[in-house]
This record gives sequence, structure tokens and C-alpha cells, in this order.
Amino acid sequence: MEATRYSAGSTIPLLSTTLSVIFSSRCAFMLKQSNISIDVHLDNRDPDAVREEIRAGLLSTPRTLPTRYFYDERGSELFEQICESPEYYQTRTEHELLKTVADDVVARTGADELVELGSGAATKTRVVLDAMARAQRLRFYVPLDVSEGIVRRVAQELVEEYEGLQVHGVVGDFLAHLGHIPQGGRRLVMFLGGTIGNLGPEAVPAFLSTVFDEMDRGDSFLLGVQLITDVARLEAAYNDSAGLSAAFNKNMLYALQPVIGPAFDPEAFDHVARFNHAEHRIEMYLRSVRRQVIPIPELELTLPLEEGEEILTEISTKYTRHHVEVLLARAGFSPVAWYSDPHDLHGLALAQKPFG
Ligand code: AVJ
Repeated sequence: MEATRYSAGSTIPLLSTTLSVIFSSRCAFMLKQSNISIDVHLDNRDPDAVREEIRAGLLSTPRTLPTRYFYDERGSELFEQICESPEYYQTRTEHELLKTVADDVVARTGADELVELGSGAATKTRVVLDAMARAQRLRFYVPLDVSEGIVRRVAQELVEEYEGLQVHGVVGDFLAHLGHIPQGGRRLVMFLGGTIGNLGPEAVPAFLSTVFDEMDRGDSFLLGVQLITDVARLEAAYNDSAGLSAAFNKNMLYALQPVIGPAFDPEAFDHVARFNHAEHRIEMYLRSVRRQVIPIPELELTLPLEEGEEILTEISTKYTRHHVEVLLARAGFSPVAWYSDPHDLHGLALAQKPFG
């Protein structure tokens, strides 16, 4: 019997996506599967507060739009394509690195339960699940992702691929729904891809403390981070020649339409991505190709943009090993291991919530 629970949570990006997801899941409910359960946390953000957040961002310096609007269905698809582009080295570097270290991670943690924040298509997940299976410890997998479709698909695939595996999916936001991860055995919590880099410097310590608080003593945390490397390589990864990054960036203007209407004309903006040395991060902007005055009745705002004026849509921070280890220690974690690829492009920090 598949158990599906709906409860009010707080942050799923798009209300319309969330609503369509409720209906699709009602159908999926008929597919009974004894070792899958799915917990869906709906977006209970106040629509007025969401509009106010967007309005305040557009009026701040620099003007900004919330990064979470990248990941509607089309945006998630584009992101998967970016991961396969020749310029975006991050995903395959992390994947290869995980293959070489997964057995060591499993041996050091003794984990029998894998919790994955932002699990997506779970490609890299299988590398860790395989290692747990080799150690004959694999019991439980808990994917947490904003996309219900992806959580369900992955749950179904994995129970078919791994005999005896229980999957408990959590549909929600890694910033808001960590409290809904079930208590388990010895857990390994994994947050890969360098997604932590999308959080502002003020948000990172709070996020790590929340993860720490949600974990039991003796549980482990595996954090993937993108490392600082040469600027040409970094900037190319966000300016691929096939134009996928540009399409991904501009797609945000479509994804915003359910909230603020078709105010922005995506054709009136250029994609810009460049490295900010002082903040050691890639910044992505949408740059107005001409002077324009944009009425946005939903926000009770008329936005004047100069030719060349930029709106910040994403930061993607790059780290050093030292920086990551300091952040983890400040949140209370004890270091267990540090892994990186031969070119020091990507790092995996393994840490533990100490017993005493
Ligand atoms: C999903 C956060 C790892 O910041 O590199 C890819 C998102 N943005 N291309 C990153 C992204 C533009 C990506 N992460």
C-alpha cells in the first residue's frame, strides 16, 4: 500500500506547478507499491508575501529575481541538458569523484539510510546506493526534491533496481522541509552538485545549522562543493556554446508568468554570466537590451530599465577546502574526510554530527 500524505509546508516555488502536481499524484495513488511512501508538502506561502518578495528584489541594488524560479518543468529539463554540455564540467567531475570514494564513504559512516537533499534525477545517488549494497547495508533511501514527478519516478525506479530497498520520498524545499525527514537508522545526509553555492553568504550558516539540528548524533553529512578554479573554465560553464545556459536563465521570465503575468519580454534580455572575484562566485544576470518601461500590475509597480541594466538571477559560489571545513565546524560538525578530483575542480566534504 503506497502511503501519500499531504501537509502544509512552506516553499514550493510555483503555486500553479504545485496544484497540477496534486492532481497528477491523485492518479499515481492508484499504483500500489509496498515499499514506497511519499510525503508531499504544499506551498503555503502567502501569495501577497511572494509578490512582495519579487517586488522588493526588483527595487533593490542590484535588482534581483528569486533563483528558485529557474526550476519549473522546462527549467529542470534545461538544467539536465546543461549538465551534459561539454562546458559544464561540474556534474561529471562530481560523478567520477563519487565513484572513486563511495566505498570509503560507506565504510567510514556505517550508514544504512541515505537521505538526499535536492535529489533530482538521482543519477549520482546510484553510485552511493551501489556502495551501500556492496557493504550489505542498504535499507532506506529518502529523496527530498521540489518536483513531485521526479521524486515518484525515482522512487519507482530504485525499488525496482535495489531489492528490499524502502523509499520514502519527501516533496518539498530543502530550505523549508528538513523537519519532515523520517527518523531512521544510521543516516548519511547528502547534498551534492554544489547547490549550496546558490545560497547567499548569510544563508549558508543557517542552512548548515538546520541540517545539523535535524540529524541524530552519529549521522554523517556529505557535502558537494564547486572549487575555485580558473576564470575561463568557470565562465565557460555558464556560457555554453549551445546556448543552454542562456535559455535556462531567460526561462525564469516564463516561469514567473503565473505569479506576475507576462510583463517581461524574454526577447528583450540578454544572458550574462561572469565571475565576481571579490565574492568568488559566478553571477548570472538578465541584461536589458534596450531602455524599457515595464508595467507590472500584479506588483503595483512600473519598472524602468536602462539599456544594459542587469537583473541578478543567480549566484553560484565557489569554495576552498578550508572555507568549507570552517563552515561545517561552525555548524557543529566534526570533519571525517575530504575528497577532491585530481584537478581540484570539485570537493566532497564528509563530516559527522559527533556523539558527545
Ligand atoms: C544546480 C546550483 C549546481 O550553480 O552551477 C547551472 C545551477 N546555474 N548553470 C550551479 C546552474 C546555471 C548549478 N547548481
